[in-house]
Amino acid sequence: MLLITGPTGNVGHELVDLLDRRADGPAWRIASRHPDQLPSTGTADVARLDFFDRSTWQPALAGVDALFLLFPLPGNRAARQAIIPFVEAAQDAGCRHVVYVSVFGADRAWFIPHYKVERALRSSTMSWTVLRCSFFMQNLHRKISTHGENIAERGELFIPAGNGRTTFIDARDAAAVAALALTDPEAHRNATYHLTGPEALTMTDVAAALTAELGYPIEYTNPSLIAFARRLRRRGVGWDTIGFMSAVYTLTKLGQNQQITDDVERLLGRPPRPLTEFLHDNAWRWRERVWT
Ligand SMILES: NC(=O)c1ccc[n+]([C@@H]2O[C@H](COP(=O)([O-])OP(=O)(O)OC[C@H]3O[C@@H](n4cnc5c(N)ncnc54)[C@H](OP(=O)(O)O)[C@@H]3O)[C@@H](O)[C@H]2O)c1
Repeated sequence: MLLITGPTGNVGHELVDLLDRRADGPAWRIASRHPDQLPSTGTADVARLDFFDRSTWQPALAGVDALFLLFPLPGNRAARQAIIPFVEAAQDAGCRHVVYVSVFGADRAWFIPHYKVERALRSSTMSWTVLRCSFFMQNLHRKISTHGENIAERGELFIPAGNGRTTFIDARDAAAVAALALTDPEAHRNATYHLTGPEALTMTDVAAALTAELGYPIEYTNPSLIAFARRLRRRGVGWDTIGFMSAVYTLTKLGQNQQITDDVERLLGRPPRPLTEFLHDNAWRWRERVWT
C-alpha cells in the first residue's frame, strides 16, 4: 500500500495522475485535509490527513508500506511538531520506505525544516529516497504565488530575482521519479537525487518564453523585495509564504539556484521537460485564468 500526501500540490497532483493511469499498480491511498474535494480516481483509497491533527494519522497510515511525504508549510515549528512525529508514526505503523520532497542544500542548511526532516529519515529504521528538487515550473500558475494573476492580468512577471538563473523543473518529472522510487524502493534505497530541468534560465528568458507562448507581451519587472511583499500582502498571501518566496528569489539572485544535474535523465531514461513544453501544455491556465 502506497500513501500519497499533498495530493493537490505541485508534485502530488502529478503523482496521483500517474498512479491513476496504471491499471496494474500497487494498492494506494490519497491523504488530504479535504478528501471530499479531491477529484475522483478510479483506483485509490482516500483518507483524511492533517499533519497538525494526530487523530487523522493512524487511519491514513494503516497498512502502508511506502509513503510519499512532503513538508507543506514554511517554518521549523511544523517540522518539530508535525512532520517529524508523523515520520515516527509512519515507522511505528509498519511503513518501510519514504520518498521525501526536499530542496537543494538541505544537507547543509541546518536552519531549514528540510534539514531536520532528512535527518529524521536517516535515523529512522525505514529506508528513504530524498528528491531535492529545483524550482517547480508550476509555481508560475500556482494560486499561492500570485504569479499567474500578474502574468494574465498585467502582462508582468513580478519576481524579485534580479538576473539570477533558475533550473526550473516540471513537477511532472519530479512525480515520475517519485513514482519510480515508490514502486521500486530497493532500487532507490537511501538515495538522494538532485532533480532539475534541462537549462538554467533568467526571468528575462522566462518572460520571453511566456510572450512567445501566450502571444502577448510579458515583461519581467524585477521588483524590490519591499514592492514584492506589499503586493503579495495586498493579495492576501501570508507572511510565512512571502518570507519563504523572498528567500528563494534572493538565493536565485545570488546565483544559488543555477546548478543543473543529469539525475532526471539518468533515472527516467529521457531528458527533463524544457520550460517551453510546460508553457505549451499549460497555456490554457493563463488564458482561462485557472490557478491551482
Ligand atoms: N515550490 C517549489 O518550487 C519547490 C521546489 C523544491 C522543493 N519544494 C518543497 O516541496 C514541498 C512542497 O512544496 P510545494 O510548494 O510544492 O507545495 P504543494 O505540494 O504544492 O502544496 C502543499 C500540499 O500539502 C498539503 N497540505 C498542506 N497543509 C497540510 C496539512 N496541515 N496536513 C496535510 N497536508 C497538508 C496540501 O494538500 P491538501 O490541501 O489537500 O491537504 C497540498 O497538496 C515543500 O517542502 C517545498 O519546500 C518546493
